Amino acid sequence: MEILKTVSEMQAWSDNIHQKGNQICLVPTMGYFHEGHLSLMEKGKKICSDLVVSLFVNPTQFSENEDLDSYPANIERDVKLAEKKGVSVIFMPDKKEIYPDRFQTYVELTELPAHLCGLSRPVHFRGVATVVTKLFNIVKPDVAVFGSKDFQQLQIIRRMVKDLNYNIKIVECPIVREDDGLAMSSRNAYLSPEQRLSALCLSKSLEKAEAMIEKGEIRTSTVKKELENYIKSFPFTKIDYISICDPETLDEIGDINSADTACPLLIAVAVYVGKTRLIDNRIINPGQ
Ligand code: PAF
Repeated sequence: MEILKTVSEMQAWSDNIHQKGNQICLVPTMGYFHEGHLSLMEKGKKICSDLVVSLFVNPTQFSENEDLDSYPANIERDVKLAEKKGVSVIFMPDKKEIYPDRFQTYVELTELPAHLCGLSRPVHFRGVATVVTKLFNIVKPDVAVFGSKDFQQLQIIRRMVKDLNYNIKIVECPIVREDDGLAMSSRNAYLSPEQRLSALCLSKSLEKAEAMIEKGEIRTSTVKKELENYIKSFPFTKIDYISICDPETLDEIGDINSADTACPLLIAVAVYVGKTRLIDNRIINPGQ
């Protein structure tokens, strides 16, 4: 496995792979690997002979009041784990390599970020879209793998690939969970043992919502109110959002009428547990 740190080295490596007629899969990450990341690598390795994992904690997707400075890191461990997964290259640029002095070009979507996480994290998706665009131009992948825990991110990347005519196949990987249902996240490392128990409110509230809708509840306001009371019953929690929306547009859905029942719905939640902001989601098909 090679560790490449500069844009020119990475681009030259990718050109060489393509010249040989091979395909490249990219797994973009911010490091501190957990089973979720490893499942993205496994998926990528099955699709392409050459797998590149980028490891870059992207400053432009954090607001000033967020956890950029304390974002967990363990590069040595990450390198070992990636090697075990058969990764060909870890692309690990430093900040100046990605954002040189006088950097001023950003990629911004007009609609999808105005929902869910974008409402409380106003610069987040501009930062994500910008860095992923740059990674696409630097790594030149044929395929890129993203997890569906960040469902809004996944939809934004899919839209961006269409809008900017990237010839890159976006592959989705399901959420990987701890045994008790908590969605894996690098930020779970911030939780105290008591907060860790409260964090279960996210996955459990999604199960609850699905059960209510399956039993015939069509008023999304009733489902959301129930979830709100449920989540508030867990100590240390503060709700950012509870959403029942169209997975394509992310527009909120009012009552689930017969026209909607044929379509999948996205139930998504974001909750602060102490100072840690966690997200989770589930797609349901009420008509089935
Ligand atoms: O999902 C992440 O870890 C990040 O948002 C990504 C896609 C690596 C961009 O920095």
